[in-house]
Amino acid sequence: MSGVEVKVEGLSKSFGRANIWSDVSLTLPPGEVSVLLGPSGTGKSVFLKSLIGLLKPEKGSIVIHDTDLVRCNENRLYELRKLFGVLFQDGALFGSMNLFDNIAFPLREHTKKSEAQIKDIVMEKMDMVGLKGDESKLPGEISGGMRKRAGLARALVLDPEIILFDEPDSGLDPVRTAYLNQLIIDLNAQTDSTFLIVTHDINTAQTVPDNIGMLYRKHLAMFGPRELLLTSDDPVVSQFLNGRREGPIGMSEEKDSAQAEREMAEAGELDGLPPIKPQLEVSAGVPERKAVARRQQRVRDMMHTLSPAAQAAIRASHIAQPQAGVADPGAPTEQLPRAGHGGYGEPRHRLR
Ligand SMILES: Nc1ncnc2c1ncn2[C@@H]1O[C@H](COP(=O)(O)OP(=O)(O)O)[C@@H](O)[C@H]1O
Ligand SMILES: [Mg+2]
Repeated sequence: MSGVEVKVEGLSKSFGRANIWSDVSLTLPPGEVSVLLGPSGTGKSVFLKSLIGLLKPEKGSIVIHDTDLVRCNENRLYELRKLFGVLFQDGALFGSMNLFDNIAFPLREHTKKSEAQIKDIVMEKMDMVGLKGDESKLPGEISGGMRKRAGLARALVLDPEIILFDEPDSGLDPVRTAYLNQLIIDLNAQTDSTFLIVTHDINTAQTVPDNIGMLYRKHLAMFGPRELLLTSDDPVVSQFLNGRREGPIGMSEEKDSAQAEREMAEAGELDGLPPIKPQLEVSAGVPERKAVARRQQRVRDMMHTLSPAAQAAIRASHIAQPQAGVADPGAPTEQLPRAGHGGYGEPRHRLR
């Protein structure tokens, strides 16, 4: 099963008179891992719920397989939902069911598989997330990290083409977060499904995804391949992703733009860019992640539009991380398969 493209255009969502975000446009490239980053309360969970049709945005479209799920009928929405696997923030397990029954639930609900077939699938997914042997435990008897992995196994049983994670890293210690992030990368290599991870964790955003989007001040600040955002000179993006203290985002509330501009001017032009943080690689024995070569090709195609400093940092990162038969990005390359019809990485500046 390989992933599908999700094309979001001009999406706006309000509750009553409270606008959460407007005019959000992005395309999740099929088979790649994308992250939606943003401070708490910016509407990241609302965005995920809109993607699966649990909330209805009042403007814009979400197109999957040529169907706009904001406007399609209930039957079609029900069909489209089967493409998704969702890991909610707390795992959302049934407290009275053991892990086996929790993970088997979607199969018993949505398929006509025999109990023997269900057992095979459940055991395979439990093994995948490192829960082999824990079938008879109840959610209340296990740690938060194990509950997240159980939620992930349940999200995987229907072999979804699109997998959504709501803050897989929240409430976990750094060791468990690292384990879960590695699991996400390995799963992506094995399934080639389309992933979207919502997080406010900058480290996850820097090291896990192929693409990064940032929600800020009720808009999508930018969406594109990681190389583009990690070298961006946009003040908001650069402050957030490169952990710079100077910038428009204050510790508690947003600074006024005059103060932010003074600070940016004082900080001056940086001499070159710091190296791009390496992306997590698949574990030993796991097949190569096909998404990497597709993304790197897309980045090479847009290289000429970037600043010399960004180009230098990106070249250095691609050379340091040769993957999937991609040689020196400066050298002529074999023709790689192009995902979809391009345009995934066009920088979107919706700031200020
Ligand atoms: N069903 C709802 N009805 C009204 N307001 C909501 C609802 N769901 C979320 N909100 C509001 O939308 C805003 C964004 O929430 P959320 O998406 O949970 O933020 P995040 O996930 O980025 O932390 C919050 O102010 C929240 O109170
Ligand atoms: Mg949330």
